[in-house]
Amino acid sequence: MSDRRILVTSALPYANGPIHLGHLVEYIQTDIWVRFQKQRGNTCYFVCADDTHGTPIMLKADREGITPEQLINQIGKEHLADFTEFGVDFDNYHSTHSEENKFFSSLIYTRLRDAGHICSRTITQAFDPVKNMFLPDRFIKGDCPKCGATDQYGDGCEVCGSTYSPTELKNAVSAISGEKPIEKDSVHYFFNLADFTRMLTEWTSAGHLQVEVRNKLAEWLDSGLQQWDISRDAPYFGFEIPDAPGKYFYVWLDAPIGYMASFKNLCDKQGLDFDEFWAKDSSTELYHFIGKDIIYFHALFWPAMLSGARFRTPSAIFAHGFLTVNGEKMSKSRGTFITARTYLEQLNPEYLRYYFAAKLNAGVDDIDLNFDDFSQRVNSDLVGKVVNIASRCSGFISKRFASTLSAACSEPALFQEFTGTNGQIAEFYETREFGKAMREIMALADKANQYIDEKKPWLIAKQEGKDTELHDVCSMGINLFRLLAAFLRPVIPALAKEAESFLNIGPQNWPTADTQPLLSQAINAFKPLMTRVEADKIAAIVEASKENLEKLTTQIKRDAKYCVSTKFEPIADIIEFDDFAKLDLRIAKIIKAEHVEGSDKLLQLTVDIGDETRNILAGIKSAYAPEDLEGRLTLVIANLAPRKMRFGTSEGMVLAAGPGGKDIWILSPDKGAIAGMRVK
Ligand code: MSP
Ligand code: ZN
Repeated sequence: MSDRRILVTSALPYANGPIHLGHLVEYIQTDIWVRFQKQRGNTCYFVCADDTHGTPIMLKADREGITPEQLINQIGKEHLADFTEFGVDFDNYHSTHSEENKFFSSLIYTRLRDAGHICSRTITQAFDPVKNMFLPDRFIKGDCPKCGATDQYGDGCEVCGSTYSPTELKNAVSAISGEKPIEKDSVHYFFNLADFTRMLTEWTSAGHLQVEVRNKLAEWLDSGLQQWDISRDAPYFGFEIPDAPGKYFYVWLDAPIGYMASFKNLCDKQGLDFDEFWAKDSSTELYHFIGKDIIYFHALFWPAMLSGARFRTPSAIFAHGFLTVNGEKMSKSRGTFITARTYLEQLNPEYLRYYFAAKLNAGVDDIDLNFDDFSQRVNSDLVGKVVNIASRCSGFISKRFASTLSAACSEPALFQEFTGTNGQIAEFYETREFGKAMREIMALADKANQYIDEKKPWLIAKQEGKDTELHDVCSMGINLFRLLAAFLRPVIPALAKEAESFLNIGPQNWPTADTQPLLSQAINAFKPLMTRVEADKIAAIVEASKENLEKLTTQIKRDAKYCVSTKFEPIADIIEFDDFAKLDLRIAKIIKAEHVEGSDKLLQLTVDIGDETRNILAGIKSAYAPEDLEGRLTLVIANLAPRKMRFGTSEGMVLAAGPGGKDIWILSPDKGAIAGMRVK
């Protein structure tokens, strides 16, 4: 038994969308490593959580007409279900919106503040005067100051690639209300990262990071560390800062603390010692698996926060690259932005686990999922090499030898060759060189198949008096298969488990040079353990992932609604051009506007639509006084069937936008339009 005590985390996925195959690179990579540690006999805990705070989650909930708590509960459940079906076996899956996280966030903040690492000052920021909230950069849109491209976000242009601050955007508007942002002052709290320059310079070069990552950090450290803005103003979904009412911790402050919180939650459930893993003098190991996009947070802010708050720092940060599909960034229109769920509806999750393992190494290079390569590797390695050995040998064992393996090992040298590689394979797993581990294991699988090819049990079976030989050869094949299943267990745990029930054995430990073959072992009937990847299933995944025109249009409409209203409104179906052509939309002149007695919503409008005048009852009293309207041009639907209402009959409808109340805007045509003109 080894005495390593290890705590491992994967980054906490945002609770604002589904898990996709890109995410899974990380969760599968971490899970393989953790399963390997456990199989080796180490004590290893794997914790994660949903990252639930911040503006995007708050706005998404708002848009869906639910509370942020409802949204994060729902998404948290979906995330965990996806992970579970992919075999990602967390010891605990928690939420950053938890008591434990609130406690540790306050504790760390207070310790940093008391040690003088927090300061506050007033800053000026873009503010949405309609939504009454400060706008994060990505919620400001406008024209690129460099190339003039329209509809670009506040932090950078997707057309020319330049980056800038939102104040440089031309014709900037809030992406939430569509209103022009104003500038507003507010007090913000900052973490003095520069106080930790020395600590970080040492820490980042002390073997906790991959070489590429360390080099990147050296650049950041050389260019000087800036203060980090850790507060956000209400309205914000997060934790209020203890001594600053109305101010909230920025989501990235409490997110990594979520690692601690999830572990604390596990400690409380299982009676574990939290301090053993987090105290400053801890001798346990702590590893964070992350994507290369969030290195700054994990290799600078996080160790500084921990050290400033007198907690231990991570043993290492393991960053990985990004997933591309068929050589390109995942794309909704190409059908390569594939969610975990869409994949699960068609294919065996262990195909993907194996494929990622075969492609992963210890570096930060991007990895490509190529569908042809995917099918080819899974079919040839797992189905063609590994499972095939068992299926070639098991029939004879069950039919001719009462499902019992032979009493002696006929090829001890070959068996030992297999067990002897355990150290090399373990080394590859330990150092996250999973691709090399898979190649080593497949080289063994080739040897096992060669052995069977040479012995030709199907010919031996036809010869008289060769029962012992047949029994030995097939038993040998099955014993080799058993070792392959043990070596592959971190990667394809479900298949390994089925292999264990076929072999009638318990969960396999990591093989050692002393591992002995199974002799005189009664085994169970062989069921096909894995079938080939079917090409039509891949096509179905791509098809299901394509955002077809209908879906895209709905999204655009949804976004458009989002601009004028943050309330959830059902989205209408797509209509054909002919449906549109049925509308008689006309410029109308409001000749008279009056209050409707007894109604607090309606105004009675008399409008000139060119060839006639109409009476229209419009629910716009909360936004307009009659005198504001008289003489104005607007847009009406002239061929709407007259509607009898409590206060009279309405002979048409005025077009207006907005969420309601004071925020209603009737539409007006540009200069030059006159009453009676039709919209074409
Ligand atoms: N919530 C933050 C992490 C907070 S950790 C204290 C976050 N969430 S995320 O949902 O955007 O990403 C979760 C993890 O998945 C990150 O490590 C990220 O790098 C990784 N990936 C997201 N998309 C990915 C790919 N396309 N490819 C590989 N990894 C990807 O960041
Ligand atoms: Zn541009």
